[in-house]
Amino acid sequence: MRDTYYITTPIYYVNDLPHIGHIYTTVMADILARYHRMAGRDVRFLTGTDEHGQKIERAAAAQGIRPIELADRVVARYHHLWEQLEISHDDFIRTTEPRHQRGVTEIIRRIQAKGDIYKGEYSGWYCAGCEAFFPETQLVEGRCPDQGHPVELLSEPSYFFRLSAYQERLLEWYRDHPGCVEPRSRYNEVLRFVEGGLRDLSISRRSLSWGIPFPGDEDHVVYVWLDALTNYLSALGFGSADDTLFQRYWPAQLHLVGKDILRFHCVYWPAFLMSAGLPLPEKVFGHGWWMRDEAKMSKSLGNVVRPDHLLERFGPDALRYFLAREMAFGQDATFSDEAFLERYNADLANNLGNTTSRTLSMTHRYLEGRVPVPGGGGQVAAAAGQATAAYLGAMDRLEPHRALEAVWQLLAAINGFIQESQPWALAKAGAQSQDHLEEVLGSSLEGLRIVTLMIAPFMPGVALRLGLQLGLPEPRRELSREIAWDAGPRGRKLGESQPLFPRVDIKAYLKEVAMEAEKQQEVKPAETPAKESTISIDEFARIQLKVGTVREAERIPKSKKLLRLMVDLGEDELRQVVAGIAERYDPEELLGRRIVIVANLEPARLMGVESRGMILAATDADGHPYILSPDGDVPPGSEVR
Ligand code: MSP
Repeated sequence: MRDTYYITTPIYYVNDLPHIGHIYTTVMADILARYHRMAGRDVRFLTGTDEHGQKIERAAAAQGIRPIELADRVVARYHHLWEQLEISHDDFIRTTEPRHQRGVTEIIRRIQAKGDIYKGEYSGWYCAGCEAFFPETQLVEGRCPDQGHPVELLSEPSYFFRLSAYQERLLEWYRDHPGCVEPRSRYNEVLRFVEGGLRDLSISRRSLSWGIPFPGDEDHVVYVWLDALTNYLSALGFGSADDTLFQRYWPAQLHLVGKDILRFHCVYWPAFLMSAGLPLPEKVFGHGWWMRDEAKMSKSLGNVVRPDHLLERFGPDALRYFLAREMAFGQDATFSDEAFLERYNADLANNLGNTTSRTLSMTHRYLEGRVPVPGGGGQVAAAAGQATAAYLGAMDRLEPHRALEAVWQLLAAINGFIQESQPWALAKAGAQSQDHLEEVLGSSLEGLRIVTLMIAPFMPGVALRLGLQLGLPEPRRELSREIAWDAGPRGRKLGESQPLFPRVDIKAYLKEVAMEAEKQQEVKPAETPAKESTISIDEFARIQLKVGTVREAERIPKSKKLLRLMVDLGEDELRQVVAGIAERYDPEELLGRRIVIVANLEPARLMGVESRGMILAATDADGHPYILSPDGDVPPGSEVR
């Protein structure tokens, strides 16, 4: 393995605030970056934001602000969130930065010099949700084949990249580098896709202004995926006067991405690089999706879990642990509060928390906090040997969930050993059992030292606190030496003990969350405006009222009043709205019905479900709602004035 390790996350769109799906990619990249740093490698870890393109331009327009203002706001949230989650990135790139524009200009210059760009006319479908072009034959029921987003017809002059010329070289690359795309199932998908034939790719847009001007023709902007992918180079100074980092870290060891953006990373990106005469990344890993209610968690479906309350209540380490443990790396998984809380109590409060606290408190009590030498270690040393081998292997094979399994097996072995050896009985038995007592506690503490080391990439804060309690110095980036049995400093004393993960009463917590949500949902009586109070026509114009068609409706579990609706707003939107109308309307009777919604209302969460808009309804004296509908067949998306 090379001594440098350059790892990247995708750069995130700034049309929305981060949710669990985005956090996952970055947390996993952080775990790997920390692991490789501990192993002594020269790591460069990059993340950032993807700020150009139609999606962002439209999202900003919907909020009545400039795209860069929207980007600035969302970027601030990302910075804050990464800090809260203890993400240890070395750089954060924004595609609106001049250094990035320089990188994009340089890669296009090289591709052009190679003769791989020509001007033509693009005529076909475009999905703003995926920022991708699709031929008519690939559409599924008139929508984008990847994620079912609405598509729109485009017909405009465009610059094209000769992607078709790279089919053979790409196939060769996959065959010669079987590890270049992982997991294996995704490698096969990519291979099949390319074997099916490649068309040239449109790499500029004329009908869009929010982007990097196309070098040599400023009527066009660079296609957002060519722009975005180049971040991996521009962040290293590619195209700038100082390219020391580029020389040192390129090519990347790992581009970590979600499976939805594999084609861009495994087909377009290597082809661009080949054309530009640059080395290819060693590996692209496509992880699975976090699902909610059997659908991919995504902004357009509105079924996202925001991390805020989990982070606030349980801190970053519990969330990081859950994400890494619950999802087999590469496969899909479902996110639920219940699963989170169960893992929290079982794995963290019980297995990790109790095993450490009982070992530490006995050492304080029976040995005044003195850490005995671990000796041969017997069964704990054997379990540690197995666990560390499994852990290192799993981390190197990109199976972090398996690495955690190995750590928890070691914890179980330590716990079982304590149970069997009964140090409390040995302490009672007095002097003749002293050696045995020291042996038992010594090897248990040594097992815990190794556990602490192994959990450090996953739970850096907890590892630090546990390390202090065990009287350990910080790890020294010599993992392979430090992870061995009896490699800890001799003659040390324990630090002060503190509980790591207080147990949670799951039922009470879920009730608390539900009550909180109900509270939010109770509409506060608006202050009665004075009779003469009026609003200007401009103030009224700020309220966006739109006709929508109800496509899905269902009751929200544990709520009497609320329904979750998916409302078709025409063009490119299916919007999730939560409405307090369940006492008067059955979900079934609403399907297909035209309604009016306030479309630019600030998003809110009701009973944990995100609502992006409000349905207009009249209320009678008893507070019963009566939905408003247009008097005729106006299409969804029509404005109401
Ligand atoms: N801007 C592009 C990436 C450009 S990289 C050169 C993009 N951005 S994104 O914000 O939509 O998504 C970023 C990452 O979040 C992707 O890897 C995507 O797979 C991941 N996730 C978004 N929703 C997700 C889940 N529900 N579950 C897991 N990850 C998912 O795509």
